[in-house]
Amino acid sequence: MSGGPDAKAWFAAPGGPLLGEISIPGDKSVSHRALMFGALAEGTTRISGFLEGEDTRATATILQCLGVRMEAPSAGERIVHGVGLRGLRAADAALDCGNAGTGMRLLAGLLAGQDFDSVLVGDASLSKRPMRRVIDPLTQMGARIDSEGGLPPLRIHAKNVLQGIDYECPVASAQVKSALLLAGLYASGATTIREPHPTRDYTERMLAAFGADIDFAPGVATLRPGRTLRATAVDVPADFSSAAFFLVAASVIPGSQLRLLRVGINPRRTGFLDALRLMGADITVHPLGEQGGEPVADLEVRSARLRGAAIPEALVPDMIDEFPALFTAAALAEGVTTVSGAAELRVKESDRIAVMAEGLRTLGAAIDETPDGAVIRGSGFTAGDGRLGRLHGGHADSRGDHRIAMSLAIAAQCASGEVRIDDIANVATSFPGFDALARSVGFGLRLA
Ligand code: S3P
Repeated sequence: MSGGPDAKAWFAAPGGPLLGEISIPGDKSVSHRALMFGALAEGTTRISGFLEGEDTRATATILQCLGVRMEAPSAGERIVHGVGLRGLRAADAALDCGNAGTGMRLLAGLLAGQDFDSVLVGDASLSKRPMRRVIDPLTQMGARIDSEGGLPPLRIHAKNVLQGIDYECPVASAQVKSALLLAGLYASGATTIREPHPTRDYTERMLAAFGADIDFAPGVATLRPGRTLRATAVDVPADFSSAAFFLVAASVIPGSQLRLLRVGINPRRTGFLDALRLMGADITVHPLGEQGGEPVADLEVRSARLRGAAIPEALVPDMIDEFPALFTAAALAEGVTTVSGAAELRVKESDRIAVMAEGLRTLGAAIDETPDGAVIRGSGFTAGDGRLGRLHGGHADSRGDHRIAMSLAIAAQCASGEVRIDDIANVATSFPGFDALARSVGFGLRLA
């Protein structure tokens, strides 16, 4: 398994071809939300396909600290005994969201309308992430939240009733939208959120499935409070963002052919499929209908000759978590890839533009940062016979960012020598078992 206190570094070396069929762990966004709505519902919510990651487990622990009973009959299953919208009780200590921005921002909305105080804290990375984007609109709804100059910890004061809001969101953020919808459950009137670009709609879909009075369309959602949430089963699809690492790895490692089973393909998540195809990737989507209200498909990927591309800015929100993997693909493609309109990458688990540029440069890639993206001159590796245009071995640092650790591990598969990747414990936040799964299909990857 990846992660854990002793799992600090990987040695990654050229491996492959990648062959076989694999199941990817459950979707992180859906797992967080299923726990929260299950907690606020009346009745018992059974979650299957739950992501056993550190981020989602932190949310489960927090809800338990707030008085919600939960059972874990087996890995990937949770039974949540809902307490109803007014059934949470004060925790006796600060609530630790760990590395999870989703956990902290959504819980800020959920806790803003409770009749007790709460404190949300996070790890070193989360403690540097901007929270004004939720504090400001929640304050407009009547919440009282103290922060450290817009950063965690968040001290949320008791406030029984909030006011609904009609909010034009300055950032395209599903986390902000979801925080406001959760707060809207405790408001005296309707809450409407308008987005500059549509973002993932899991909160809206799940609120509807739990019986809330909500209307939504791409870019706008309106919640009217007053209805009881009713427990329902949630069958979490595999996480597209975790699948993305294997889409890139099988594309760039010569001779690969990989099938990723039952992956969630919500259109607000799959911009990366369009971007990779624009670069020449060979990916076939085999639709399998719906699972837990979400479209799912098997994804079949074969290695391909990748070309650099100008990534359309319109795709950015639909592939926001996939840029580290895209940077790796671009570094191995033939020609120049440009990314723009993606300044949000600088406030993720790390500054993903700077940290990916640093890591790939360590391996010999040519990348220039821009304020809102990067220009990546590809080495042409995928155009060659597997020996041309190689990155070289070296010592890279993921700076504690799970997605960067995995993206650098893919780059290493195409390098001429071994790569040491430091600070990989946080891979367990989103993708526990990544290294074992990767090895099982042919990666060269081991714990240092
Ligand atoms: C998420 C939304 C995105 C994404 C994050 C998960 C969610 O963040 O980057 O990994 O579950 O709502 P933003 O909404 O801040 O862009």
